[in-house]
Amino acid sequence: MATAKIKKTYQKPKGTFDILPEDQKYWEKVRKVFKHIALGYGFDRIDTPIFEHADLFGTSAGETSDIVEKQMYVFKSKGGDMLALRPEGTPGVMRAFMENGLFNMPSPAKLYYLGPFFRYEQPQAGRYRQFHQAGLEVIGDKDPIYDAQVINMLVIAAEELGLKNLNIEINSIGCNKCRPAFRTQLVRYYRARAAKLCKDCKRRLKENPMRLLDCKEEKCEQLKAHAPNLIDHLCEECHDHFKCVLEYLDELEVPYSLNSHLVRGLDYYTKTVFELFLEDEHVEGGSEKTHQRSRLALGGGGRYDNLSKMLGGRDVPAMGAGVGMERIIGIMKRQSIKVAPLWKPDVFLVQLGVLGKKKCLKLFEELRKAGIATGEAFGKDSIQAQLRSADRAGVKLSLILGQKEAIDGVVIVRDMESGSQEAIAMEKVVKIIKDKLKK
Ligand code: HAM
Repeated sequence: MATAKIKKTYQKPKGTFDILPEDQKYWEKVRKVFKHIALGYGFDRIDTPIFEHADLFGTSAGETSDIVEKQMYVFKSKGGDMLALRPEGTPGVMRAFMENGLFNMPSPAKLYYLGPFFRYEQPQAGRYRQFHQAGLEVIGDKDPIYDAQVINMLVIAAEELGLKNLNIEINSIGCNKCRPAFRTQLVRYYRARAAKLCKDCKRRLKENPMRLLDCKEEKCEQLKAHAPNLIDHLCEECHDHFKCVLEYLDELEVPYSLNSHLVRGLDYYTKTVFELFLEDEHVEGGSEKTHQRSRLALGGGGRYDNLSKMLGGRDVPAMGAGVGMERIIGIMKRQSIKVAPLWKPDVFLVQLGVLGKKKCLKLFEELRKAGIATGEAFGKDSIQAQLRSADRAGVKLSLILGQKEAIDGVVIVRDMESGSQEAIAMEKVVKIIKDKLKK
């Protein structure tokens, strides 16, 4: 029996997206600003694999963290290794630091990266399954000055991109010395109110009580308001560290708000944690427009002095941050931030006839080598159609080369605004065009 052919059309997987040509200018801009800032602060680029051994993330972020428990793409390789698509950058960078002996770099190692990350989340605005982060890690120094500097770098990057209405929320979640006593108090507070907790928080109470402070459920938010504050329980070292970070931020005039409930969802953090929020009011909807107040985390990070030891290495204090590139670009569009196109032709080549077309091909190379952005419509034969394309491209000048011009060794230069035309000798055309464009 003949099987009917099924015509299959493919669609991208849920939570992913294509970055189409029209959007590339935003991506280039964000990458460029971030790289420029990273280099300005003496950061070196690092690229780590997109997949790692799955337990690298389990050991660092914590087996009960949302990222590891619910969001990791884990797969078994043909060789039997359990691998995971990286859900975030910090563990891979720390692994690379230790594995490659980057202890020998001038200390601290200041590293930055840009690339894709993967989390199996319920997709919604600003939340994807494949997303991109720009990250910074300062490895090998415990001085609070780096906490302030990294926070400042994120703020500067966002400002340089033209984003408005930014706010840093900051907290200290202490260290292994002060956290246990606080955890006991927290558990006591929540145990007395366990019946009112959401299902996830009932579990968190047993597995990882610090994360109770992270819950966004309405009923848990209410309980959180009166929960004990870690800030009041910091040991002397953590207290002094946090005080210094805030003083450095004041010195840099970075605005921030203290948020004693900010804990972040990853086990490796110690002392300073922070998030960069964008809070604004914007209009949404089609015919029925509504004003929406929104609060979006553009980035976040903190100190992770214990991570190297959690991964079985020596004691290496560290601090870092990551920003979500999709979210930044989404806001740039929403705030109508202008970004120059990546390429815009200065001149347009118009050809006619076999010989004209041949000479145009050569002229195109000469113009390109001279750094003159040149548009063309080589596939079109009609002069009118080519001039219309030139008009649409918004060029100042068109260069017309037909059979006769090719034989005479000249090019006709047409001023697109006035319509005036002049013939220029072929060998002088690059220089003359350059001069004309400068004017
Ligand atoms: P994170 O807060 O999990 O931190 O992610 C940083 C940023 O990545 C978020 O603020 C958000 O803008 C963006 N992001 C996270 N998940 C998604 C998603 N599903 N879709 C779109 N954007 C997303 C970290 O990843 C830490 N590694 C940051 C760090 C570096 N801490 C120390 N060093």
